[in-house]
Amino acid sequence: MPSARSSPVSRSARPKRTDLRFAVISDVHGNAHALDAVLADIAIQGVESIVCLGDNVSGPVDPAGAAERLMALSGPSIRGNHDRWTVDLSLKGSGKIDAFARSKLNDAQLAWLADLPATATHGDRVFLCHGTPADDEVPWLDMFFSGRATTLPGEAQVAALAGTFDYELLLCGHTHIARSVRLADGRMIVNPGSVGMQLVQGSPDARYAIVERRAAGWHTTLLVVPYDYEAAARLATANGFPQWAASLTSGWVGPESLR
Ligand SMILES: [Fe+2]
Repeated sequence: MPSARSSPVSRSARPKRTDLRFAVISDVHGNAHALDAVLADIAIQGVESIVCLGDNVSGPVDPAGAAERLMALSGPSIRGNHDRWTVDLSLKGSGKIDAFARSKLNDAQLAWLADLPATATHGDRVFLCHGTPADDEVPWLDMFFSGRATTLPGEAQVAALAGTFDYELLLCGHTHIARSVRLADGRMIVNPGSVGMQLVQGSPDARYAIVERRAAGWHTTLLVVPYDYEAAARLATANGFPQWAASLTSGWVGPESLR
């Protein structure tokens, strides 16, 4: 029989403040099917607050549906590089998938996307960015994969990109690879992975994170959620992006397959 000391923390003893226990989602990429599964799982976990790290609508499944759901969230939300490229199709980097997403958004959804900030804070302990604090196109916790190859950077490189940002928890997305790392100075950096676009990880399931501030520091849970990815792939094909179907149904392919 476990002692009182080793008993798990009861739900009622958990922090109540929404900036001390919350869900982190990123890189939905217009996949409303995956987002619905993640939002349902977040509700099951009893988490009330959600922060979103951008690349919200650029994808072949249901950009408007994703925007509608994300606009209803109460937590802080930021833009990613693909959100910039969807708002302004003349920018270098903007492509066919961004133009498709833009064509599906109504005026209110496009205005919401255009108004998203590049970075944000959640309470006084948490900082949100898409790539790194300084650049939404720079990968942070893994070197952005070329084909199937991805490598993990050393501590000095990761710490340099963290700069002197004085936050306990730094959140990033962009690379679609879920990781949670801690710097020597105690700061934690978490990438929750991608909700709606899986690459090279060998699973089509949606990914997100739950973080919680406990007495010993930030506690991270990286979650993997199954959903109806076959239905999402059928929509991608019907919308003219059959090359995305392999990514959606397997999660094994690399980014080159989306071109
Ligand atoms: Fe992305």
